[in-house]
Amino acid sequence: MITRRTVVTGLTAGVALTALGAGLRSAPGAGPVQARSDNLVKLPIPPLDKGRVESGVRIFDLALQRGQAQFLPGLSTPTLGINGPYLGPTLNLTDGEQVEIRVKNGIGEPTTIHWHGLHIPARADGGPHQVIEPGKTWTPTFKVKQNAGMFWYHPHLMHKTGLHAYLGMAGAMIVNDQRTPDLALPSDYGVDDIPLVLQDKRFNRDGSLDYLSSMPDRMMGMKGDVLLVNGAIAPQFKATTGKVRLRLLNGSNARIYNLGFADDRMFQIIAGDGSLLRAPFKTNRVVISPGERTEIIVDVSDQKMAELVTYPHEAADGMGMMGGGGGMMGGGMMRRMMGMMGGDNRRFQVLQIQPSSALKASPAIPSKLIQIPLMKASDASNTRRFVLEMGMGPMMMMGGGGGGFTINGREMDMKRIDERVKLGATEIWEVVNKSPMAHPFHIHDIQFQILDRNGKPPRGQETGLKDTVLVGAGETVRVIAKFEDYADPERPYMYHCHILEHEDAGMMGQFTVEA
Ligand code: C2O
Ligand code: CU
Ligand code: CU
Repeated sequence: MITRRTVVTGLTAGVALTALGAGLRSAPGAGPVQARSDNLVKLPIPPLDKGRVESGVRIFDLALQRGQAQFLPGLSTPTLGINGPYLGPTLNLTDGEQVEIRVKNGIGEPTTIHWHGLHIPARADGGPHQVIEPGKTWTPTFKVKQNAGMFWYHPHLMHKTGLHAYLGMAGAMIVNDQRTPDLALPSDYGVDDIPLVLQDKRFNRDGSLDYLSSMPDRMMGMKGDVLLVNGAIAPQFKATTGKVRLRLLNGSNARIYNLGFADDRMFQIIAGDGSLLRAPFKTNRVVISPGERTEIIVDVSDQKMAELVTYPHEAADGMGMMGGGGGMMGGGMMRRMMGMMGGDNRRFQVLQIQPSSALKASPAIPSKLIQIPLMKASDASNTRRFVLEMGMGPMMMMGGGGGGFTINGREMDMKRIDERVKLGATEIWEVVNKSPMAHPFHIHDIQFQILDRNGKPPRGQETGLKDTVLVGAGETVRVIAKFEDYADPERPYMYHCHILEHEDAGMMGQFTVEA
C-alpha cells in the first residue's frame, strides 16, 4: 500500500487530488484497497461548458488529446482526455436548440465520439462509422430533441471503444428543457447539482493503466480495483445546501455498482437515463450498470456526514441472477470458473458528503415530476427479439482466440445491417439473456420505456425514459419505443452490450430507420 500524499494535477482546472492508499495491481481478492481518511481530496467538478452562440447555433469545441494525470501519489498516468488530460467538460445543451460540435482528434490515431442517449440523425451519432482520422475535425450538427436529463459522450471506434474510454475520453452532457425549470429541484451546477462520473481502474506499478492483461478482463469485461469519481479517489464534497442532487453516470467499462449510503439513509431517485421520473422514488439503494445514468437527491439537513458507498449486489459480481441460460456450459460450472477468474463484488467508497455548519435550506422535492405517457405493448406494430450469448469462445481465451459474444448468434459486422426499422414505427425489442452474466443492453437514437422484466413491470429509475437496460443472466426484458424523425437507409445506428469489452468483441448489431 502507498502512503497518503497529496499531488496536484492539471485535471479540471488544477484541483488537488489525494490518492488514498490505492492498490497497485494488488492480488485478486485482497479486499477493498481504499483506506478511510479524514483528510480527503476535494471532489473535482468537470467544468460546465455552455459553448458559444453564433447566428442561432450553439457551438462547442472539443479537443481530443493525450495527457498525463496524477491519480496516484508520485506517479503519473498516461491518459486520453477532452480539452484536458482526463475526461471532458460537461456540455450544457437545451432542448430545441441547434448545436454544432467541433471535435478535433489530437490523439494520433483514429477514434470517434458518440453522443450517448441523444436522439439525432445517424450521420451525427458518432458511432463506428463516423471515424475521425488523426489531426482531423469532425463537425456534427443537430437539433436537440430531448427531455431534460444527463447524457454522455464517449469514443465508439470498432474494437477500440474499451481502450479509448478506459484511458479517459468521456464527458457528461446536461440537457435542460422548457418544461422542467419550474420544478423546485436542485439545479445549481457544482453547488447542489453534482455530476459524478464513476469509473474503476487498475494501475500498473509505474502508474500507467493496466488494460486487458488477463483472461477474465476479456471475458467479464475490464474491472479495476480503484474507483475514480470525476477522476479522484474517494473524494469529499462539502454540501452547502440541505439537499444535494447527484447525477450519477456509470462510465466504467464493465463494473455494475449497487449504491447506497453507509448509514443506510433513504434518498429519492428522480431520474433515469433520459428523463426525470413521473414521481420521485424513495429507496436506500440504486443499481447502475455501464452506460446508465440516474439522479438521486439526498437530504443532509441532519448535518450528519453522508458517505456514498457501493454494496454487494447479485448482478454486480457480473454473474448473478442465474435463471436459465448458461449457454453451452452449465450455469454452475461457468459461475465457478468466473469466480476463480476474479468475478468480484468488492466494495468502494464513492463520495463523502460533509454538510457545512450553515446549510441553506432546499425546497421540498415535488411529489410529481414530469408526465410521460405510458406506452403499452398494444401500441407496437412489431416485436424484434435479441438473444445475447457468450459461447465457448470466451471460455477458450487462454489461447487468445476470441469469438462467442453474439446477438442472435452473430458477431458485429460493420458491413451488415441487422435490422431495418420503419420510420414512425413503434416497436417492442425483447432482449433475452442466455448467457451466465448480466449485460447492459443499449440502443442508439431512441429513448425507450421498459415494459417488463421476466413479465414484471419496472420499478424506480427504470420507470423513466431509458436508453440502456441491465439484463440479468437468464432474464428477458421487453422495451418499447417509437422510431421517429430521422430516416437514413445507409447509415446505421448501433445496439450493443455496454460492457465495452463485449461490445468490442462483437456483442453489437446495426439498425437503420427507413422512410
Ligand atoms: Cu454509450 Cu453505443 O454507446
Ligand atoms: Cu449510445
Ligand atoms: Cu455484455
